[in-house]
Amino acid sequence: MLAWSEAARARGERIAFVPTMGFLHAGHVRLLEEARRQGQRLALSVFVNPTQFGPGEDLARYPRDLDGDLDKAAATGADVAFVPDVASMYGPHAQTFVEARQLQKGLCGGSRPGHFAGVATVVCKLFNIVRPHVAVFGEKDFQQLAVLRRMVADLNMPVEILGVPTVREPDGLALSSRNSYLSPAERQRAAALHAGLSAAHARHAAGETNAAALIAAASAVIAPRVDRIDYLELRDSETLAPLSNVDRPAVMLAAIFLGTTRLIDNQRLGC
Ligand code: PAJ
Repeated sequence: MLAWSEAARARGERIAFVPTMGFLHAGHVRLLEEARRQGQRLALSVFVNPTQFGPGEDLARYPRDLDGDLDKAAATGADVAFVPDVASMYGPHAQTFVEARQLQKGLCGGSRPGHFAGVATVVCKLFNIVRPHVAVFGEKDFQQLAVLRRMVADLNMPVEILGVPTVREPDGLALSSRNSYLSPAERQRAAALHAGLSAAHARHAAGETNAAALIAAASAVIAPRVDRIDYLELRDSETLAPLSNVDRPAVMLAAIFLGTTRLIDNQRLGC
């Protein structure tokens, strides 16, 4: 992989990169299409990164379809797929981790301790191996994108980070590899997540700025339809600091459970 990148760089080519955990869907494809426009060379990685899964999470059953992934990647014009195995990414003596100490706390970091250290570390490693000029990520994983922007700025990584809006099903459900875990009945109820965030967006557009009222508007739609709300919070969309009033660009972020499946989504307010 490194030799490929060094050769492309020596030819003066701009390398665009999309890291994934595979089981590609139309959201990933949108990222690949955007990345295709960003550089002369397009690389993707498919790696189900064990260090970002906690004990008892879905690492062992995470969906995989490498042949399908490679077909979809080729169809979008990807030049190379980097598909390392776990042993080649993490040697037995690995002990160095990257952490965004504040941004990794709360939201998904609150319910998934260690998750964002795993994400930041693997993305740092992938950047060192793929050596992209630009890397493309989805806004669906809003906190992840914030952590990675912070990492690149704090550690002077010469990589441009580009965020892409969330790709959704017709009923608003954000595409996710984990949607494949849902039963047909759960799949129907899952639409409430986006519907609730949209209700908050509508309340804000109608003039409401109080965080508690906006969260209540979302919760009224989401809570009756899901099995558990993991979190539902309003944050500053730049810093992810908690907000009690929308007096600056904000984002409402949520994680919910349907059965054992955990889904996340977010909605910007005020911009
Ligand atoms: P994964 O969940 O496979 O997602 C790969 C990329 O696709 C991420 O940038 C994610 O935000 C984006 N994505 C997922 N669903 C999307 C949707 N509906 N619309 C737009 N983009 C979407 O995120 C990861 O993998 C991993 O944490 C990774 C960054 C690869 C590190 O292991």
